[in-house]
Amino acid sequence: MNINDIKKTIESRQQLTPAERLLPAESTELLMEQMMKFLELEHLYESAIREVKTKLEILDSEFRTKYAYNPIHHIEDRLKSPESILEKIQRKGIPFNVESIRANINDFAGVRVICNYIDDIYTVADLLTAQDDVTLLKRKDYISSPKPNGYRSLHLVIETPVYLSDKKELVHVEVQIRTIAMDFWASLEHELKYKTDNEVSAELADRLKECAETIAATDLEMQHIYKTLQEME
Ligand code: GTP
Ligand code: MG
Repeated sequence: MNINDIKKTIESRQQLTPAERLLPAESTELLMEQMMKFLELEHLYESAIREVKTKLEILDSEFRTKYAYNPIHHIEDRLKSPESILEKIQRKGIPFNVESIRANINDFAGVRVICNYIDDIYTVADLLTAQDDVTLLKRKDYISSPKPNGYRSLHLVIETPVYLSDKKELVHVEVQIRTIAMDFWASLEHELKYKTDNEVSAELADRLKECAETIAATDLEMQHIYKTLQEME
C-alpha cells in the first residue's frame, strides 16, 4: 500500500452514500490498519524524545550539582506533524510504509538544546553520544561551517533504544544544539522566511547574514568573558 492507494481509497469512499460508507469495506480496514501503525509510530518517537530529554536533563543537573553551573539553558522538542511527514516522503520519494519512514526520516522526533556558551554545545554533544546506548548516525557542524545564509547550530542524528512491553526498538532522533544567540537568530530568520510569500531579497538576505556574523562574534566574546572570570576565581 502506498500513498496513492490511500488517496484512491479515500476518493472512492467519498463517492459512496453515507449509508454505504458505514458498511465494512476491506479498504477501510486497510486504512485503519495504516492509521493504527502510524499512531504506534508516533508513540514510539514521543517516547524516544522523552528518553533523550531525560538523558540531557540528567547531564545538566549533574553539572549543577558538581560545578554549580548549568551548560543547558533550556530544551525544546517537537514531533513532526503527519502533514510534514507526508510532504517529506513525497518530496524525497520514500516508500509509504512504517519501515521506510523509520529508516529514512531522521527528524520525526526533534530535540533542540539551547546552551549558554559555544563550548557547552560540544560538551553536551560529546557526553550524550558517549553513552553506551546512544549511537551517533550523523553529525553536521554548522558552527565550524555555517550555512551560506549564516545559520549556525550543531546537528546530530542519534539512535536510542525505547523499551516496549514486548520488544526494544531503536529510534532515530534529530538533536539540534545551539547557543541562546544562535537560537535567537534562527528563530527570527525562520519566522521572516515564512512571513514573506516571496523570496527574501538579496539585499535583505545579506543583512540577515550580517546579523548572524555579529551574533557569532558576540557569542565568542561572551565565551571569552566567561572564561576570564572563571580563571580569576
Ligand atoms: P532535511 O532532511 O530536509 O531535514 O535536510 P537536512 O538533513 O539537510 O537538514 P539540515 O541539517 O540542513 O537542517 C534541518 C533542520 O535544521 C531544519 O528543519 C531547521 O530546523 C534547521 N535549519 C536548517 N537550516 C536552517 C536555516 O537556514 N534557518 C533556520 N532558521 N533553520 C534551519
Ligand atoms: Mg528537517
